[in-house]
Amino acid sequence: TEPFTVAIDGPAAAGKGTISRAVAARFGFAHLDTGLLYRAVGAKGGDPVAAAKDLRPEDLARDDLRSAEAGIAASRVAAIPDVRAALTDFQRAFARRAGGAVLDGRDIGTVICPEAEVKLYVTASDEVRAERRWRELRDNGDTISLVQVLDDLRARDARDRERATAPMRPADDALLLDTTELTIDSAVEKACKAIERQL
Ligand code: C5P
Repeated sequence: TEPFTVAIDGPAAAGKGTISRAVAARFGFAHLDTGLLYRAVGAKGGDPVAAAKDLRPEDLARDDLRSAEAGIAASRVAAIPDVRAALTDFQRAFARRAGGAVLDGRDIGTVICPEAEVKLYVTASDEVRAERRWRELRDNGDTISLVQVLDDLRARDARDRERATAPMRPADDALLLDTTELTIDSAVEKACKAIERQL
């Protein structure tokens, strides 16, 4: 089967991960959470460019990558152009694999896969995103406060939007999906309809 790329970008905790997993399952596409690559580089410590160049599958399997600290460390190393460059080929190859692929991140529709067949930009209000992320962290045993999560999200979004290389922004041809008042099911439905129109 032909390659078919779905690019899903947007700020932290807007629902990209949930939508990506559901869409991948629905269409039988492979899924890559590209944030995990940056989280793994940030968590490795040492020289981030060297860490990005020899990133290994086992680095992505660490169980501390979902923490709030790992998200902050990720957004720091993600601003380094050579770190991004070192991760580009792997993401592009994944995107064009046979059978279809969903990639979620910040720059998939703009930089990694500008030719993606479908581009979505998923957003939600700061408050709703913070609450979703806070529940997720709490369910994982983290005792961080909601206010702290909101502050962290805003700081991380600002860094992701304002960096010079591959800043977070919707591609000109992306479909905007605001999930503030959507259930998971209806957000997934909208994403699936957008894909069906291009298949
Ligand atoms: O999506 P997630 O919260 O796991 O991403 C962690 C950080 O990695 C983001 O805040 C962003 O700085 C960086 N990132 C990126 N480009 C991507 C995916 C993630 O810069 N495609």
